[in-house]
Amino acid sequence: MKIGIYVFSGTGNTLIAAELLAGSFRGAGADADVIKIENHTKNKSVPNLSKYDMIGIGYAVHAFDAPRPAYDFMRALPESPGKRLFLFKSAGDFFWNGGSSSKVRSTLAKKGFDVFHETLFVMPANVFMRYPDPVIKNLYTIAEKTAGKSAGEILSGARSLAKNGIFKRIFTRLFSDGESFGVKRLGRHMKVSSECNMCGVCWRDCPTGNITQGEARPIFDKTCCLCMRCIHHCPKYAITPLLKFFRLKVPYNLKKIAADKTIPDDALKNVTKGFFRRFRRYFEKQGLL
Ligand SMILES: Cc1cc2nc3c(=O)[nH]c(=O)nc-3n(C[C@H](O)[C@H](O)[C@H](O)COP(=O)(O)O)c2cc1C
Ligand code: SF4
Ligand code: SF4
Repeated sequence: MKIGIYVFSGTGNTLIAAELLAGSFRGAGADADVIKIENHTKNKSVPNLSKYDMIGIGYAVHAFDAPRPAYDFMRALPESPGKRLFLFKSAGDFFWNGGSSSKVRSTLAKKGFDVFHETLFVMPANVFMRYPDPVIKNLYTIAEKTAGKSAGEILSGARSLAKNGIFKRIFTRLFSDGESFGVKRLGRHMKVSSECNMCGVCWRDCPTGNITQGEARPIFDKTCCLCMRCIHHCPKYAITPLLKFFRLKVPYNLKKIAADKTIPDDALKNVTKGFFRRFRRYFEKQGLL
């Protein structure tokens, strides 16, 4: 079995989820490739799905929905009647399973895909609130378990799709329509501090080609999807969005934290109060803690 995993990830969390899934598939004897969606959306190329028996599509949740590049990719896919497809998404919270996936599913259904499985990876938020390192590490170890469990279900062909009730759909619609209107404008007005040394990381890495090299500073155009990559990956942390509170006070490196043996990996098991108590209850219910 050969599986193609296509992923849109701004700051790396969903890419890590894709790699964990691929590792679990390979561990079970399947062959899996991880392909970045931007490799196709940036040059408007259509992926060759015929080499895969099954495909996965993953995205970072933005405003309870999928970000624009993920939709651009899905809309450009070839007609694929009956092709097996699983979804996965990463979100900073499990609230309402990261929003409704009904728009994503109907976009894919129009192409004929058989969308049969869906997984939510709860990952550290990359906006507003910087989770503490022990929580970040525990979310990583939970993501490893989530990947193992989901890969087993997907390979066995089990049908498992999140419920998208009417309130969830309305809520997602309201938020995501507002977000898609706002982000292009916000992305035009990124502020770059004097710390910038014109290293080029931001304009080389932007998944939507929104950044170009200016005379003394990078220049931002109007194709931003507010993925936060330029902000998080800038070596000088010199970029700030117009809405300052969007940016974490200190960025994090998920892989580095996950590999740090001095950080405990069971923080959520021990929380008895505060914001993360909800997380403990949620993961216990899922059998992941
Ligand atoms: C513009 C934007 C909107 C977001 N909206 C949500 C949201 O609605 N719900 C949520 O749980 N997390 C939300 N997040 C957090 C991300 O989904 C989460 O941190 C995710 O793991 C990031 O994945 P990535 O590193 O692959 O980009 C949002 C992040 C951004 C940048
Ligand atoms: S990544 Fe940061 S330091 Fe490098 S060019 Fe962009 S803003 Fe400047
Ligand atoms: S400008 Fe920055 S936030 Fe906007 S799409 Fe490019 S990398 Fe992402």
